[in-house]
Amino acid sequence: MSSPLRIALIGAGNMGQQHYRHLQSLTEATLCAVADPGPQAVGLAAEWGVAYFADHRQMLEQVKPDAVIVANPNTLHVSTALDCLAVGVPVLLEKPVGVHLNEVRELVGASKATGVPVLVGHHRRHNPLIVRAYELVHSGALGSLTGSDAVAAPWSWELDCGENPVYPRQADQPCYLLAGTGGALSIPQLKRWHYADTDGGWHQPLLTVQENFSADEALRLQLQHFVRVARREVEPLVSVADAARTLALIEAIREAAETGRACAPTLIEE
Ligand SMILES: NC(=O)c1ccc[n+]([C@@H]2O[C@H](COP(=O)([O-])OP(=O)(O)OC[C@H]3O[C@@H](n4cnc5c(N)ncnc54)[C@H](O)[C@@H]3O)[C@@H](O)[C@H]2O)c1
Repeated sequence: MSSPLRIALIGAGNMGQQHYRHLQSLTEATLCAVADPGPQAVGLAAEWGVAYFADHRQMLEQVKPDAVIVANPNTLHVSTALDCLAVGVPVLLEKPVGVHLNEVRELVGASKATGVPVLVGHHRRHNPLIVRAYELVHSGALGSLTGSDAVAAPWSWELDCGENPVYPRQADQPCYLLAGTGGALSIPQLKRWHYADTDGGWHQPLLTVQENFSADEALRLQLQHFVRVARREVEPLVSVADAARTLALIEAIREAAETGRACAPTLIEE
C-alpha cells in the first residue's frame, strides 16, 4: 500500500477548515503544512501539528508537498494555482476557479502545458445524488435553462437537499426539474416520470419510479477523488476548462443583462 499523500493547505479559513476536517477521515492522505498570512492560521497549524508558513511560495519550496488544497480568496486562485503548477504540484482549487475568464484561460493553458492536474472544487458534482441524476439524464441533450439566485422561493439546492444544516430545510420541494422527450426527473427527490412505451403520450398513464442513491459527504468524496487525481490514476471530474465554461456562461449572462442582447458564452477548449 502506498504511503499517505502529503497535502498542504493554502488558506485556512472556513472552507480550508472544512477540508481539514474531511482530510482527517482519510487514510490515503495527510495534512503536512498550512500557508495563510491571516492571524488565526498559525494557531491552527500548531493545533493540527503541521508546519506553518505565511507565504505559500516558501511553503512549496521548503515542504515540497505531494499536492495542495487552495482555499484562499477568489482573486488569488489563479496566481496561487499557477505557482503550484510551476513546481509540479497538483491542485484542488476551491470554486470559483477565478474571477475573470482571461486569467482562467492562462490556467487552462498552464495545466495543459505542464501536465499537472487541477481539480476545481465544484464539490456537488461528487454528491452521490447528483452523480445518480447525471447518470439518468446523460446523453447529448439539448435543453433550456431557467434559473435565478435572487428570488424568495423554496426551490434551491441549499434549502432542499439538506447538505448544510444552517439552511432551514424544505425537504418536499424540488430545486431542479429536468424534462425531456423520454421522461422527467425531480432533484433532490430523484423521482422519475416516464411513459410505459417510448411513443406514449397524454392519453397513457405517466409512470413514476423512485430512484435511489447512497448518501455520502460530497467534500470527503471530492478529497478521495483528488488523491487519485494527484496520483495520476484518474482525470479530474471538474477540470479548469470545465470550470472556465461555468465562468464563461456567467460572463455571457452578465453581458446580456447589461446590453439587453442575447449573448453566447465564449467557447473554451480543453
Ligand atoms: N465549495 C464551496 O461550497 C465553497 C463555500 C464557501 C467558500 N468557497 C470558496 O472557498 C474559498 C475560501 O472561502 P472561505 O469562506 O473559506 O473564506 P475565508 O475568508 O473564511 O478564508 C480565506 C482564508 O484565506 C486566507 N488568505 C488570505 N490571503 C491569503 C494568501 N495570500 N495566501 C493564503 N491564504 C490567504 C485568509 O487569511 C483566510 O484564512 C473562496 O474561494 C470561496 O469562494 C467555496
